[in-house]
Amino acid sequence: MLRVGRGQLSTRTYVTSKSFTIGLIPGDGIGKEVIPVGRKVLEKIGPKYGVDFKYIDLQAGWQTFLDTGKALPDDTVEQLRNNCQGALFGAVQSPTTKVQGYSSPIVALRKALGLYANIRPVKSVDGTGDRPVDLVIARENTEDLYIKSERTYIDKETGGRVAEAIKRISEHATRNIANIALEIALQRLKEKGHATLTVTHKSNVLSQSDGLFREICKSVYQSNKKFANVQYNEQIVDSMVYRLFKEPQCFDVIVAPNLYGDILSDGAAALVGSLGVVPSVNVGPNIVIGEPCHGSAPDIVGQGIANPIATIRSAALLLEFLGLPEAARHIEKVVDENIRENKIKTPDLGGNSTGEQVANDILSRI
Ligand code: NAI
Ligand code: MG
Repeated sequence: MLRVGRGQLSTRTYVTSKSFTIGLIPGDGIGKEVIPVGRKVLEKIGPKYGVDFKYIDLQAGWQTFLDTGKALPDDTVEQLRNNCQGALFGAVQSPTTKVQGYSSPIVALRKALGLYANIRPVKSVDGTGDRPVDLVIARENTEDLYIKSERTYIDKETGGRVAEAIKRISEHATRNIANIALEIALQRLKEKGHATLTVTHKSNVLSQSDGLFREICKSVYQSNKKFANVQYNEQIVDSMVYRLFKEPQCFDVIVAPNLYGDILSDGAAALVGSLGVVPSVNVGPNIVIGEPCHGSAPDIVGQGIANPIATIRSAALLLEFLGLPEAARHIEKVVDENIRENKIKTPDLGGNSTGEQVANDILSRI
């Protein structure tokens, strides 16, 4: 059940319980390095807020596929569905060419659990990035080109292959993502005195699919008076990229279909120094799953230099959406302190510390 609360991100699952079961899915690559840090953070913060976390270790990913023939075992889905209120997901490594029987488990998981929104706050702390950035990307999480309805056939005229993919935009999913984006904007309005929603689309070309996305976002905004003081904007996705890099301070809450949201959030990560610091949370009706925005980072795996901050911040987002905003703020504060003090940082932020040193510094501040 989603309700509006006092937290920075307003819309979250409210529960009265002080006991939560958290699924831990490291996945592949640096997911295995950062998810244990997420667990340590929860272990340390729980007792301070009278919250008891239980953990279930779960499998998914490329290695799981190689070992078992399934990238997303049924047991993982069932455990999350039946026994967990929250989870932390690391990253999975997906091959760039088609492998029979393999399909990205995080995409499948978002579908299986109805995780309709992926909320990605991108915020600079003094000393990172070159400009102040404070925005939230609300990425639709279940459809668009990610329904993976693809086919390849031979073109009769040219004899060459043609590959097609269906982009699906539905009124239902768009309404859901527009609603949560506007609730977040409303909360930011209360906190900062102003808030803007920017709807990202390409309806000048894709007049039906992106046209529907744009139309529904606007109608959700207009249909509820409570959103009246949130400013409403629209931006075509290509010029959105331009403006995001040229004047990121103009953006507040951005709502986007799945693919644009994915691309924009990795781009926005460059504005705050590294993909290694940008968190996300997948929000569904019955479970929330924190997930760093980055992938499995094969180029740095095993070197001990993966930045754990994106995962630590994802743990904070998880707590926020579980209805524990004070605990979430606590984690955010100590992460900001670590970044601001600028001494113990991993190479992606220009430092020479290990991920473990960063994790220990943050844990010691909790
Ligand atoms: P990536 O996000 O793994 O890496 C991009 C760049 O950012 C690399 O240079 C990497 O070293 C750096 N980076 C990422 N996270 C970092 C961290 N925590 N600390 C320091 N540096 C970090 O994206 P890439 O290389 O395109 O994809 C690698 C694999 O990850 C692919 O197989 C892809 O399918 C998968 N992937 C999985 C995702 C998921 O599970 N949700 C999301 C994105 C990619
Ligand atoms: Mg991505």
